[in-house]
Amino acid sequence: MGARNGKSDDQSVIQRILDHVEHKTTDTGEEVWREPVDNYRSDKRLAEERALLRRMPVPFCPSAALPEKGSYVAREAAGVPLLVVRGADGKVRAFRNACRHRGTQVASGAGCAKVFVCPYHAWTYTLEGKLRHVPHEEGFPGLDKSTHGLVPVHVEEKFGLIFISQENSKSVYDPLPTIIRPDQPMYASAERELDVNWKVFLEGFIEGYHIRFTHPESFYPYGYDNLNVIDFYGRSSRITYPFRRIQKLASVPPAKRKVDGLLTYVYHVFPNVIITILSRHTNVIILEPLAVDRTRQINYTLANDAGAEALKEAKRDQDFVGNTGALEDLAVVTSIQKSINSGANDVFTFGKYEGCVVHFHRQLDAALRA
Ligand code: FES
Ligand SMILES: [Fe+2]
Repeated sequence: MGARNGKSDDQSVIQRILDHVEHKTTDTGEEVWREPVDNYRSDKRLAEERALLRRMPVPFCPSAALPEKGSYVAREAAGVPLLVVRGADGKVRAFRNACRHRGTQVASGAGCAKVFVCPYHAWTYTLEGKLRHVPHEEGFPGLDKSTHGLVPVHVEEKFGLIFISQENSKSVYDPLPTIIRPDQPMYASAERELDVNWKVFLEGFIEGYHIRFTHPESFYPYGYDNLNVIDFYGRSSRITYPFRRIQKLASVPPAKRKVDGLLTYVYHVFPNVIITILSRHTNVIILEPLAVDRTRQINYTLANDAGAEALKEAKRDQDFVGNTGALEDLAVVTSIQKSINSGANDVFTFGKYEGCVVHFHRQLDAALRA
């Protein structure tokens, strides 16, 4: 059975999984893809990919990262420092994070602010980006404060995420469902840098062909060997990893079946964002390409439900995954990166059980050509 296009609700995903279990099948892609290894080591290609990240709408953080008026997140995206903030009116705005005096970044990290005061000479901006105050303003005769606000960039909230389009306000979005509900609280965020190409890292999240061999004692005992359901949403996709205990739903009437704790959804929001929805927690993973062999990984972690008990369970769930499977994946992608210049492979071959990866490369190719 092949991967599907468009929306697939929980019930039909469960049915597709139960059918695969019964027939010992899995969703398969339609073609084998040969990706030139040069595309992982060429600076020119990386520059094109980073330009694409500035040209199209890319998730910057979950909406839950900006829970109240004045909440902000500042970081670089595709090499450009940006500042995203929820205004006094509740609306999210985004700016190039550069003071209009001499360019100092007016905010860093994340937090809650009433105004942004530039750390250099204290030019002060409102949450709406207006330049409100210039110390010793008489030193700037003729300065028009109304044209020296922070420079806005296009921002939209969709699917529980905040998307930024740095260079294009006519953004086209993939037809994704709501991935994160408004009642899911964010409780942690973290950043690290990896000595891995961003695509090598990404590919490991979106195929289940490796589960048995890479994760023999962490994921495989609870999951299946090479059994996945795949859905495409335009350029983006979702791969579903069922747990073996989902088989108990075979005896439950279809309308009463619930996915709770029985599967993992992994969304790939094209091009560089992965969202894993595990039993009790959700991870928004943003991959910022820094160099052909270096990636900044930014993680935002949310509980799947509100409340203290849900939070405790989310953290337990997160520890298990982070201390086992995630380390196994990191070991593999690091191994790939070390061999990438060995001359062994001119292409990497992605087969029919790596359908989401094939979809990604096909879409990336098309987007870079467009
Ligand atoms: S650079 Fe910001 S106040 Fe001078
Ligand atoms: Fe893995």
